[in-house]
Amino acid sequence: MADLEERIETLTHKFVEVYGVPPRTTVRAPGRVNLIGEHTDYNDGYVLPIAIDREVLIAASPSRESAVCLYSMNFDRVSAFSLGNIARDRVNTWSNYPRGVVYMLQKRGFTVKGANLAIQGDIPLAAGLSSSGALEVASAMVFQTLNKLEMSGPEMAQLCQAAENEFVGVNCGIMDQFISRLGVKNHALFVDCRTLEYEAVAIHGHDVRFIVADTLKKRGLVDSEYNMRREQCEEAVSLLKTYLPNITALRDLTIPDLKRYGDRLPPTIRRRAKHVVTENDRVLKSVKALRDGDLDLFGKLMNQSHESLRDLYEVSCRELDVMAEAAWRIPGVYGSRMTGAGFGGCTVSVVANEAVEEFLERVPAEYKARIGVTPTVYVCTPENGAEVLLSEESGELDEGA
Ligand code: GLA
Repeated sequence: MADLEERIETLTHKFVEVYGVPPRTTVRAPGRVNLIGEHTDYNDGYVLPIAIDREVLIAASPSRESAVCLYSMNFDRVSAFSLGNIARDRVNTWSNYPRGVVYMLQKRGFTVKGANLAIQGDIPLAAGLSSSGALEVASAMVFQTLNKLEMSGPEMAQLCQAAENEFVGVNCGIMDQFISRLGVKNHALFVDCRTLEYEAVAIHGHDVRFIVADTLKKRGLVDSEYNMRREQCEEAVSLLKTYLPNITALRDLTIPDLKRYGDRLPPTIRRRAKHVVTENDRVLKSVKALRDGDLDLFGKLMNQSHESLRDLYEVSCRELDVMAEAAWRIPGVYGSRMTGAGFGGCTVSVVANEAVEEFLERVPAEYKARIGVTPTVYVCTPENGAEVLLSEESGELDEGA
């Protein structure tokens, strides 16, 4: 992987080549890996993700057109749209994320002026590390900077989520956009997805690395299964309202509530609800464990989360199970679990520094022996959320723009 400075330089050169002027601003927004709290965000629950050192970069400058021109370095393609009529691009589907962000900005009453953008990213696509959330947040940062828009971090995360829900058409929760915007270096972010209150929980001081292992399994069913899980959670709430009239989301359910009323639910719905209720509880315990420096407990909770996602929420798959089990066998691995929506994608493992080498030798080899594919493995560090890296204050448009 080229380092950040080199990547910015290459992107800046490309920008000049494509648009004939230097960029006025350059921003970055990272991908994410969720340590614990899976399938809880859309149930108004808790999550604990980190932003990672893989990111989307966008260089941009204003233009005189009432249009936005997007150039993707990764795909070497251009996609442009008029600000008066923003539609989806069926061919350049990557462009629908920035398109959706501008669409939502307008819908919220912001005035967006014409701009030229060049985009480059090193978050692996379709691996469950939220390259799409990062592209949305980077786009929002660009348009905020160029148009001097007043928007808080949580507001930007909500706007990007709305772009994905309403424009792109994916019914995701708030986690990915929130961590990409608000991540804190060397910290995990504890987020209450109902109130959007958040707190950075320190990780530095612990001698651990976060290892993300990509199963490379195509996540074919992920959208339909994801939507089905959301519906099942809503059904659980609507059935339980008969007994607990004040609940509005599974977040409101306690473990004793579930013991008391769980048998009133059909078995599948009961399993889904049990995952969500126990997962929220595990997040609260994990945050405490991290604060107490109790990584053994933190890791155990991660492993339990995997089992719950496998057995109760049923969003794991053989590849994810094999990867997690391979990690569990290594001394010095505190915990390992599937991360993200599931049905493929990645596991995340919290690994003591001195065990990293053994992990990198043994986990990919065991996965290869059992699944027949060599996985891609990334050693990650928790990074800051989105940042403006360069912004030239100048009211004038550059010549030729
Ligand atoms: C996807 C969604 C998130 C979240 C996770 C599951 O990554 O984009 O909002 O629901 O799945 O925890």
